[in-house]
Amino acid sequence: MKDQLLKLTQEALAKIASSKTLDEINEARVEFLGKKGQFTTIMKEMKNLSAEERPVFGQLVNEAKSKTEEAIEKAKTELQNALMEQKLQDEIIDVTLPAKKLRTGHGHPCQIALDEVERVFIGMGYEVIEGPEVEWQEYNFTKLNIPEGHPARDEQDTFYITDQILLRSQTSPTQARVMEEGKLPIRMISPGRVFRSDSIDATHSPSFNQIEGLVVDKHITMTDLKGTLTQFAKEMFGEDTVTRFRPHHFPFTEPSAEVDVSCFKCGGKGCRFCKNEGWIEILGCGMVHPHVLEMCGIDPNEYTGFAFGVGLERIAILKYEIDDMRLLYENDIRFLKQF
Ligand code: DAH
Repeated sequence: MKDQLLKLTQEALAKIASSKTLDEINEARVEFLGKKGQFTTIMKEMKNLSAEERPVFGQLVNEAKSKTEEAIEKAKTELQNALMEQKLQDEIIDVTLPAKKLRTGHGHPCQIALDEVERVFIGMGYEVIEGPEVEWQEYNFTKLNIPEGHPARDEQDTFYITDQILLRSQTSPTQARVMEEGKLPIRMISPGRVFRSDSIDATHSPSFNQIEGLVVDKHITMTDLKGTLTQFAKEMFGEDTVTRFRPHHFPFTEPSAEVDVSCFKCGGKGCRFCKNEGWIEILGCGMVHPHVLEMCGIDPNEYTGFAFGVGLERIAILKYEIDDMRLLYENDIRFLKQF
């Protein structure tokens, strides 16, 4: 029986040694050490032994079982290590490989220019306020001193939703909305999309963007207007920029002006960029018309103000020397990436 036990032990060890998977090792465990395993079977045959031989043999069986158990544990550990090693090899990451480039989007030149304008005015203590793109004709025109039948309504022909509601043709209605709220003093800019029934070409689009500005307080004069807009021009186009205020007419301001900046390409000498003028027009402005203040519930004897309107695309086109406005709306990434 001892020989039988020895043979069985060798068989078990050989089987474990030749196991190549955890499943195979497990099968060996069941076959030899399981409840109905071969060691259990051989134990049952102890009843044929004498009383003295029995404990001796029992001990031998136990030793054989422990040996087998150890072999199983060792084989398992080795196999697991090998598997882990293999996994590490398979999943090796070469950190020296160049990373795949993520194609991120790019800020639109109009957005970059707007951020810049906002930075300048927020720095001067202005609030940024949004107005609705779908607007009452009353705010878009009447409250801005453009009554029904006024020719300025035709100049800014827009898209009507009903005869009272339209797509705003300018950001100026935000002026009326803010003044009507009655919180004084006012120092705000209001950027946003506007609409006109123009056809598309290199300088026109049925939808573009403006930035409105409004200051209302006691003792505001034309000096404040000129100082503020000159500072804005310097920050946008360079410290050496000179401004020129040309008299103009807007229904909602009196007096009104158009502002030119000295050409930042040639410094004012005249070049292709400024069409040999030395000056480039950038915005419209003026002192808020007393009648407009009144219509919006502000006493013009106590308060005065100034306003201005800038075309955002125009600023972007000038700043980044873009020669066709349509490029701004095509969103071709090859174009956008340049800014
Ligand atoms: N709303 C005018 C336009 O679209 C621009 C403008 C001019 C706005 C003078 C103003 C201003 O606030 O004072 O042509």
